[in-house]
Amino acid sequence: MKFNAFGYLLLSCLLIPVILVACAPQDEALAQATAAHPQGRAIFETNNCIRCHDAGNGGYGKRMIGNPRLRDLAYIKSRIINGKTVGGAQMPSFAYLPKKDLEEVAKFVKALAGWEK
Ligand code: HEC
Repeated sequence: MKFNAFGYLLLSCLLIPVILVACAPQDEALAQATAAHPQGRAIFETNNCIRCHDAGNGGYGKRMIGNPRLRDLAYIKSRIINGKTVGGAQMPSFAYLPKKDLEEVAKFVKALAGWEK
C-alpha cells in the first residue's frame, strides 16, 4: 500500500487520541491541585519545584503523583525545609520560604500526589 497523505491523516487520527488518553491522568492531577491551591501552584513554579519534579511526574526529583509518602503533610514540609542529597541528585533546602508559603506549597504537593480528596 502506498503511504499517501490520506494514510498520514488516518495515522494521526489513530495516534492523537492514544497520546491524549495516555497523558490525561497527569494533566488532571496538576489541574485539580492548581484549582484547590492556586497560591501553592505559583510557589511551586517560582521555586523551580515544577521543573525538577516535572510537574509531579518525576524527572530529576521524585515522582509526586501517587507517591505514598506524600500523604503526610508534616513529612512534605520537613523535606522542603531540609532538602536531601541522594547520590548525585539534590533536593535543595527551601528553609528560607515564609511559613505561609511553605504551608501553601506543601498542601499543593499533597493534592498533586492525589491524597487530598
Ligand atoms: C534542583 C532540583 C529540585 C528542586 C528545585 C526541587 N526538588 Fe524536590 N526533590 C529533588 C530530588 C532530587 C528529590 C529526591 C531526593 C531523594 O531521593 O530522597 C526531591 C524530593 C522531594 C520531596 C520528597 C519526595 C519523597 O518521595 O520523599 C518533596 C516533598 C519535594 N522534593 C518537594 C519539592 C518542592 C515543594 C520544591 C519547591 C519548593 C522542590 N521539591 C524543589 C529535587 C528538587
